[in-house]
Amino acid sequence: MQTRRFPSRLDVPAVEPQAPLRTVVVGYGYWGPNLVRNVIERPEFELVALCERDLDRGHAFSAKAPGIPVKADLDEVLDDPTVDALIVATPPHTHHAICKAALLAGKHVLVEKPLATNTLDALDLVDTAATRNVLLMPGHTFLYSPPVAKVRQLIDRDVLGDMYFVTSARMNLGKYQKDGVICDLAPHDLSILLHWFEEPIVQVAAHGRSVFQTGVPETAFMTVTFAGGATANVELSWLAPRKVRQMTVVGSRRMVQYDDTAGDEAIRVYDRGMEFETPSNFGEYQLSYRSGDIVAPRLEPAEPLALELQDFAHCIRTGRTPRSHAYLGLEVVAAMEAAQESLMRGGHPVAVATVGERVVA
Ligand SMILES: NC(=O)c1ccc[n+]([C@@H]2O[C@H](COP(=O)([O-])OP(=O)(O)OC[C@H]3O[C@@H](n4cnc5c(N)ncnc54)[C@H](O)[C@@H]3O)[C@@H](O)[C@H]2O)c1
Repeated sequence: MQTRRFPSRLDVPAVEPQAPLRTVVVGYGYWGPNLVRNVIERPEFELVALCERDLDRGHAFSAKAPGIPVKADLDEVLDDPTVDALIVATPPHTHHAICKAALLAGKHVLVEKPLATNTLDALDLVDTAATRNVLLMPGHTFLYSPPVAKVRQLIDRDVLGDMYFVTSARMNLGKYQKDGVICDLAPHDLSILLHWFEEPIVQVAAHGRSVFQTGVPETAFMTVTFAGGATANVELSWLAPRKVRQMTVVGSRRMVQYDDTAGDEAIRVYDRGMEFETPSNFGEYQLSYRSGDIVAPRLEPAEPLALELQDFAHCIRTGRTPRSHAYLGLEVVAAMEAAQESLMRGGHPVAVATVGERVVA
């Protein structure tokens, strides 16, 4: 396995440890209410305002959180020197402009996935955060989910052996969005895969199908290649009869089935595999199959979003790097952009720029 190129610290200055972080959530559409609820519940934060342009959404918020102001103008929030942090839950194509303005105003930013819609914009945000010495964190919530963390633990403890490949299916009758299914769902798989493999993605090939509007695929099939040669096949769809959230990891020692819809039995570890002995004579190969126990490891119950927010606050206070860090977010965007380019080129494999090295250098 290749060593990670990312720095362990981002040198973000520490904030006064006792005071709750004065925080504004931007966007109260489908996902924003989940963030608002967690910000209100978590002791590390004080929700000082919601920033929302849509009047009806603003009223919906006020009905649930009376007394907390709603601001339609982002500049008013950014001009307030007592605001420490912004949590952005607006559509992806708005992320760059909102986050750039917030970072330039010296605010710490947690932005929902994806960090941006293209690599240049993502790089610009990473550079701006570094220059301003504030924390920029992409909200890759799955990295905080107990099953994903369990698989990472199994990899770290070398339970799985060499990682050969991963297959993934993320499907549902999903919410149609103009950014397309890759921008909506691929960040989940890409962030999980980057977190598990801890290796750069070097190439992506993607096919897809746009049924309703040209250039807005509802279904996509991606093949992702990692620097060490391992591959992942990812199926994404908003046009499926039922919710499927499954990933299979095939390693030399163990195989893992992760079914995110299976509650506390989301992970099953299979002691199964195939041993191949190099033939001493032509044609005399030896194959043996291993079929041992199936184990469902215990998973700590936890809400991933609560853990993500806890990590955000902790890293602002300590200057540490969050699990869902900006460079990982940048790699997700680079791979996502390569997938979109491959889709336009009829599935031709597209190399992923080694953006991490450029940022760290
Ligand atoms: N982590 C997850 O599992 C998860 C799940 C769903 C969505 N998301 C992410 O959350 C983000 C939001 O998605 P959504 O489905 O909630 O979108 P949405 O369209 O339902 O809601 C976005 C809201 O932002 C508001 N808005 C847009 N621009 C604004 C601006 N400049 N200032 C103030 N308000 C503004 C809109 O009025 C709207 O209410 C996306 O990045 C999406 O990828 C993450």
